[in-house]
Amino acid sequence: MPSSRPLRHLISLHDLAQSEIDDLLDLSLRLKQRPGKATLAGKTVGLLFFRGSLRTRSSFEAAMKQLGGNTINLTASSDFWELESGAGTVMDGRAPEHVKDAAAVLSCYVDALAIRTKPSGGAWAVDRRDADIRSWAEHARVPVINMESSLWHPLQGLADLMTMRESLGELRGKTLSFVWTNSPTAASPTAVHSLMHAALRYGMQVRVANPAGYELDEDVWRRAGALASEHGGTATSCTEANDAIRGAHVVYARSWHSLEDYGNPTLAASRRARAGDWLLDERRMALGDEAKLMHAMPVRRNLEVVDSVLDGPRSLVVRQAENRLHSQKAVLQWLLRS
Ligand code: CP
Repeated sequence: MPSSRPLRHLISLHDLAQSEIDDLLDLSLRLKQRPGKATLAGKTVGLLFFRGSLRTRSSFEAAMKQLGGNTINLTASSDFWELESGAGTVMDGRAPEHVKDAAAVLSCYVDALAIRTKPSGGAWAVDRRDADIRSWAEHARVPVINMESSLWHPLQGLADLMTMRESLGELRGKTLSFVWTNSPTAASPTAVHSLMHAALRYGMQVRVANPAGYELDEDVWRRAGALASEHGGTATSCTEANDAIRGAHVVYARSWHSLEDYGNPTLAASRRARAGDWLLDERRMALGDEAKLMHAMPVRRNLEVVDSVLDGPRSLVVRQAENRLHSQKAVLQWLLRS
C-alpha cells in the first residue's frame, strides 16, 4: 500500500517549503470553488485521537469521503491499547504495546496516519519536544500528519492562512495580533505557534499580547525573530490587549496556559484569577483597522469574546472552521496522490 515516493510527514508547517505552502493554499482555494473529483478513491487514512476534537475529526472524515477515500477512526481511551513510546524501554508499566509496533502494523492497513497526541501536562520542557508524534513519524511507513501536538497545529495554521488570504488578499505588511483570552480550560498555544511562524514567512507584522506570566515558549519566539528578519516582517510582544489591537487587520483570540505554572493547576488557577480584563468586545475591536476576528475554536462566548463580535460581520471564526475542510483536502491530495 505505501507508495515508492520518499516518505513525507507533516509535523509542523516548517516541514513544508514556502513554494509547497503556496501550492497548498492555491489548491485549497481551488477545491473550495470546485470541490473536485474522487481523487483519493481506494485510499484510507487512519485517524488516531488521544484527546477530543470536533472540527479536526469531522473535517478530516468529510474531506476523505468527499475525495472518495475512507478513514479508520480510533480513539485512544476506548479503541486501542495504552502505548509506550520510549526507545529501549523495559515495558513493565501500564502500556502493553509500543508505538513502534502499532505504527508498523497500522502502516499495513492505511495510506497515511493522522494523529492528535495528548501532552502529559507534567513538564513543558518535556512536552514541548513532541516525542509522541515524532515517535509515530519515526516508526510509520506511511506519511504521518499532525492533527495537533504539544507545540504545533499545522492544519489549523494552513486553514488560518487560507482564511486570511481570502479575507485580506496580500498578507505582506498586514498586522496580525494574537490576543490572549481568559478561559478555565485554556487551550494549548499550538494554533498561535503555527500561524505566527507561517504569517512571518509571508512578511506579516505579528504582535502577541498576553498578561505577564503567559509568555510564549522561548524557542518559538527565537524562531519568530529569525523569520521576521528573514522575510521582512516584525514579531513583537506586549502586555496590553489594546496595544496589540490598535491598527491591526486581524485580531486572533486564543487562551493558552502559563508555561510558568505548567503542571501545577493550583498556581495556574491563581494566576488566571489575577490576569485582569482580556475580554474581546466591540470597544476593543474598534481599535483595529476594520479588524477581522479569528479564533480556532472552541470559544467560550462572553468570557473570551462577546456574542456581538463573534456573530458580527468581521468575524471569520466559522469560515476558519470551514476552511479546515478545504485545506485538509489539499494536504491529503498532496500527500496521497501517486
Ligand atoms: N480547532 C480545532 O482543532 O478544533 P477541534 O479541537 O474541535 O478539533
